[in-house]
Amino acid sequence: MRLVLLGFPGAGKGTQAKFIAAEYHIPHISTGDILRSAIQKTSELGKKVKNIVADGRLVPDDIMTTLIEDRLKQNDCQHGFLLDGFPRTLQQASALEGITKIEGVIDIELSEEAVIERLTGRRIHPASGRTYHLLYQPPRVQDKDDVTGEPLIQRPDDFEATIRQRLNVYQIQTSPLKAYYQHAPAICYMKINGAEPIPQVKEKIAQALTKLSHAREKID
Ligand code: AP5
Repeated sequence: MRLVLLGFPGAGKGTQAKFIAAEYHIPHISTGDILRSAIQKTSELGKKVKNIVADGRLVPDDIMTTLIEDRLKQNDCQHGFLLDGFPRTLQQASALEGITKIEGVIDIELSEEAVIERLTGRRIHPASGRTYHLLYQPPRVQDKDDVTGEPLIQRPDDFEATIRQRLNVYQIQTSPLKAYYQHAPAICYMKINGAEPIPQVKEKIAQALTKLSHAREKID
């Protein structure tokens, strides 16, 4: 499976990506996680992108495309992958076409009001990227990671003003990808209602991917 996840910030891409990657034994490639890890390590890339990410703007296309091209060359991507956070512009989508052929796009839909509630309540474990929500997915012990017991933090871009900036950026730069993938030949576009609880969203995605698998088997 060579898949792309689309959807507003906070639509539930990262949450659902973990289930899909485990089910199909494919790597979950989150560009946000890669950038945050680079920022944490203060690598050259991290230094370049730190302020851009904190402000909720997009990192330049050439940096992101090189990063994904290198990542997709790694062995674990031979039998498929799940891209979460890439592409985010038409230029990135066009560059991706030159690198590999995508089979399916899962577009998780959610309203802007729900996004604000989801992201202001999100807490993360920075070292692993594990995600929680104060109401919808609370940790077993308040403010502590379930696995390591280490403290959870609020992402610097998860404060309301920055969330609104990210939504604005999404509407202008990323939302054209919806039409792009809806009309792309040989790519299965799957629209999923992200407003339902996590297990229901997971089930709807599983059903859509089963249909896609059956369609592939017929072609093979
Ligand atoms: P990135 O990390 O990709 O952020 P994003 O797209 O804004 O997505 P999020 O991680 O915020 O949300 P999500 O959809 O994964 O939601 P989640 O599952 O956590 O990118 C960050 C930044 O990096 C960008 O702003 C940009 O600067 C830069 N960047 C990255 N890629 C780039 C690119 N290609 N080009 C340029 N720049 C790039 O869920 C959210 C919360 O809701 C959680 O608390 C979760 O527990 C809860 N939740 C999830 N599902 C449900 C549900 N069904 N019901 C109730 N609660 C739920």
